[in-house]
Amino acid sequence: MMTGPDEMIQVGVMLSGHGSNFEALLRKQHEDFFKRARIACVVSDNPDARGLATARGHGIPAHAIDPHAHAGKAAYETAVVDALSRHGVSLVVLAGYMRIVGRVLLERFPGRILNIHPSLLPSFPGLHAQQQALEHGVRFSGCTVHFVDAGMDTGPIIGQRAVPVLPGDTEDTLSARILEQEHELYAECLRRVTEEQYDISGRTVRFGPPQGGSVA
Ligand code: GRF
Repeated sequence: MMTGPDEMIQVGVMLSGHGSNFEALLRKQHEDFFKRARIACVVSDNPDARGLATARGHGIPAHAIDPHAHAGKAAYETAVVDALSRHGVSLVVLAGYMRIVGRVLLERFPGRILNIHPSLLPSFPGLHAQQQALEHGVRFSGCTVHFVDAGMDTGPIIGQRAVPVLPGDTEDTLSARILEQEHELYAECLRRVTEEQYDISGRTVRFGPPQGGSVA
């Protein structure tokens, strides 16, 4: 996503719980890893999410928006969009946000919502991806950052990291090994989509200058 030379892209983080990916992004922000992105706010569907407290502790505006206090998904997402828009957000990062993104958010941020998933997609979408990997007996799993579309963990892939599955692994040990890589991968991918040119063709995200021009 390219902007003017000095323009910072305001990033809205959405999370439901622990928020370790958010914390990792925040650490990278404090290390000036991002030249074009700045976390502008955090929004959660869960008022008890630890990530909200973390955000507030760092002076980042944090909003809990209760889906059950709204008449349906569209009304809930409209409230989310309002909160994100108040902070000038133009890119949304899902960091352990446990709901399927609906029409209202997708239409307001087309191609501008990122998600991280703890498997090498398209293998093992949905919940308990690490347990699915163990049960399938794969030797490698990992994590994927992708653009969000209307499906479940189906959007165009921005980046991936592979992680070995070791004999004796449990869901917890594999999850911890993958999470370490998630923290690096998410920052890397956020940096790329905010600092590099890219285009999406079909399912493929290609980084680099446009490959235009006709063959004479
Ligand atoms: C991560 O494993 C992420 O891939 C998945 O949910 C988990 C969130 O962890 N979408 P955290 O809340 O960032 O610690």
